[in-house]
Amino acid sequence: MKLIIINGPNLNLLGTREPEIYGNISFENYLETLKSTYKHNVELYYYQSNIEGEIINKLHEINALKEQKFDGIILNGGAYSHTSIAISDAIASIKIKVIEVHISNVFAREEFRHISLFSKNCIGTIIGFGLKSYDLAIEYFLKNE
Ligand code: DQA
Repeated sequence: MKLIIINGPNLNLLGTREPEIYGNISFENYLETLKSTYKHNVELYYYQSNIEGEIINKLHEINALKEQKFDGIILNGGAYSHTSIAISDAIASIKIKVIEVHISNVFAREEFRHISLFSKNCIGTIIGFGLKSYDLAIEYFLKNE
């Protein structure tokens, strides 16, 4: 199975950014753990951008692959999840299934984080399990191959 994790703005700072909310492990470190956990059954790719249009371009690029297609996308859009109609439209425009993830429990935080413009275009949303949210998304794809 071939999956890609796409992280949006400020998620490159995981490990040092507000560690009381997001923990103190960098995503690069966590990615190594994920890759080794799933090394027998998942080819796992990773992309991070702080730029809205780059995230959209990446979604289009993945969708346009004719060979070695991806089986799923795990998307943490960061703050763009609450604001970006453009990324939401991109998710709706592609054929590959997208799971939305959030590390923190956005519903226990400020009200502006309670709305996601992405959710209705995703197959599901996993929220609030820390970095384990990404594991849960991978598990879903594996169990629904
Ligand atoms: C986040 C939650 C968002 O509200 C926030 O802007 C982020 C991270 C999360 O993973 O908990 O950047 O998506």
